[in-house]
Amino acid sequence: MIPACRLADLPRGEAFRLDVDPPVSVFHTDDGEVFAIDDTCTHQDASLADGWLEGCEVECPLHASKFDLRTGVVDAPPAKLPVRTHGVLVEDGMIYVRVSTSTPNLPPCVTARLAGGPA
Ligand code: FES
Repeated sequence: MIPACRLADLPRGEAFRLDVDPPVSVFHTDDGEVFAIDDTCTHQDASLADGWLEGCEVECPLHASKFDLRTGVVDAPPAKLPVRTHGVLVEDGMIYVRVSTSTPNLPPCVTARLAGGPA
């Protein structure tokens, strides 16, 4: 498990970007739940931590596809693939993330950049 941040430092309705590769977003919902998903939208290179949190969904800041924080499923195009979800543990006021070992659905432009090709 990777320590992310203190729960007290992440107000409800806010997100924290965890600097792992690829990055992970940790969300604290208005209901007080904590979720972690891949930070990069599956459509293009947008940070979901910069999106709009509403209930258990986050809306991508670029083209408004919404991802379910519980399942990673996307509601509508232009994004088509789900984001990965990650395990979360809150213990002694600290948020820990267990990063999924499954393959992330990174957008082609990010995959090309990571491989050293044109962005
Ligand atoms: S970059 Fe997220 S929907 Fe287009």
